Amino acid sequence: SKITEEQDVVIIGGGPGGYVAAIKAAQLGLKVTCVDKRGSFGGTCLNVGCIPSKALLHTTHMYHTAMHEFPKYGIESPKSAPNLKKIMAHKRSAVTSLTKGIEYLFKKNKVNYIKGTATINSVNEIGVVPLKKSEDESTIKTKNIVIATGSDYITFPWLPVDEEVIVSSTGALSLSKVPKKMVVIGGGVIGLELGTVWKRLGAEVTVVELLNNIGGTLDLEVAKELKKQLSRQKMKFLMPAKVTNVTVKNKLATVEVQTCCKNPQKKKLEADCVLVSVGRKPYYEGLGLEKIGVQINNDRRINVNDHLQTNIPNIYAIGDVIHGPMLAHKAEEEGVAVVERIADPNKSTMLNHKLIPGVIYTDPEVASVGCTEEELKGAGVEYRVGKFPYLANSRAKAVGDFKGFVKIIAHLKTGELLGAHIIGSNASEAIHEVALGMNLNCTDKDIGEMCHAHPTLSEAIKEAAMAGYFKAIHL
Ligand code: FAD
Ligand code: NAI
Repeated sequence: SKITEEQDVVIIGGGPGGYVAAIKAAQLGLKVTCVDKRGSFGGTCLNVGCIPSKALLHTTHMYHTAMHEFPKYGIESPKSAPNLKKIMAHKRSAVTSLTKGIEYLFKKNKVNYIKGTATINSVNEIGVVPLKKSEDESTIKTKNIVIATGSDYITFPWLPVDEEVIVSSTGALSLSKVPKKMVVIGGGVIGLELGTVWKRLGAEVTVVELLNNIGGTLDLEVAKELKKQLSRQKMKFLMPAKVTNVTVKNKLATVEVQTCCKNPQKKKLEADCVLVSVGRKPYYEGLGLEKIGVQINNDRRINVNDHLQTNIPNIYAIGDVIHGPMLAHKAEEEGVAVVERIADPNKSTMLNHKLIPGVIYTDPEVASVGCTEEELKGAGVEYRVGKFPYLANSRAKAVGDFKGFVKIIAHLKTGELLGAHIIGSNASEAIHEVALGMNLNCTDKDIGEMCHAHPTLSEAIKEAAMAGYFKAIHL
């Protein structure tokens, strides 16, 4: 549909940053249009990221539990091969219902939306080439522009992704058969989550990681525990090591690896699938940023100030294209903040990056918020740590899943909460108790003195807090 009226804001990109910004803008009474070229809204997150990966992680977790854990509880289950077609069908239905849900929300909130590719013609005009060939190209006049075009995977110049043998995360979410041997290049979030999916379905998975630790910026103690737990599940790790070459012949890859130590060793790994998961890069190709002079930082992210404003005052940017963690919930918060600012220029949009939780959805899950011990040491901050293992938590014992621990870090003198790192079942949900505490400037004592229901996994958080300022009861 053609937009003839001047808009208060046009949002380019309909991912978690863009679609949330669009809905919020409409709720605030702004005339808003959201343009996305993918064909369905929701961006990377809903189409080829968070949602399909969590669908696959959940299904394969159930499969793995049924095959390997049920007998432990006295439930004898017949062994069966996974039905990959049905697993993928469930994933697709989760994605479709959520992406369609965004169009419903757009209609409900009176957001104009176009499926097509946007270009910035000038600071007040957007050009749109619609996805449907039958529709005409159009231009939209607008007072403000929000760039929310997200990110794309990184690969090596010498290793083109074919999404069959050499795959990005997108290919790894849709393989047509379970690989026999999978090599994962990069032991970050994507490598560990998608490596886990295919490991559970029967692939032999080897992760090649450049650094000495998996999971990127995780607290070191947690990263070590995660590696221990994944190794127990027979995921293999080659680290620190780098991939020096990959050749593909008859749909079989030979991955050449060199260990990074004093006496480097060379290894060759055979694989029928290689997942490249060495990070993502901001994406703004074809937008025309050079033409209108939007500043780009050295790390290729779009430069914005504290109000998410680029060097051109009426052009804003949010989400994966700007600085900060490339996370859906970070993009969403920025989406809300940016349109609040556009609606009311007195509104401050500062998002405290220290309060953005991060989760890895492996088994056990890993969730963290705030500083790691390493960061605090580096900054010379005096702190105290309270730790509590799930092994001593009654609910964890009752359900028979007691891997991992809770670690709470607070200021040594004041008890102010500085960080929390949880590795264990349900960590992704549990982290928000401490995140809320940090948002409200609580201390570890505030958590330790709060009544928690029994028996719950959350009691481990209370006990970890208590262990920090005094002593835990059940340890
Ligand atoms: P995107 O979601 O990338 O959306 C940008 C949109 O802009 C795209 O749809 C694109 O088509 C569109 N676009 C680009 N250029 C144009 C143009 N010129 N015209 C029109 N449209 C355009 N994050 C989490 O928080 N939790 C998770 O569990 C999680 N899991 C992930 C799993 C995987 C496999 C991957 C790859 C990512 C995952 N992420 C996760 C990261 C998350 O997906 C991103 O941080 C998030 O999607 C960023 O949102 P965004 O709005 O900035 O950009
Ligand atoms: P990442 O940055 O998390 O991890 C990349 C890993 O690859 C790092 O450990 C790095 O040391 C390693 N690496 C880099 N170059 C290498 C090389 N040449 N050889 C071997 N290893 C190398 O990036 P990833 O996993 O690709 O994910 C991209 C982003 O997507 C994440 O940063 C995250 O923001 C987002 N994401 C979030 C998820 C979540 O919140 N649960 C899930 C999946 C993705």
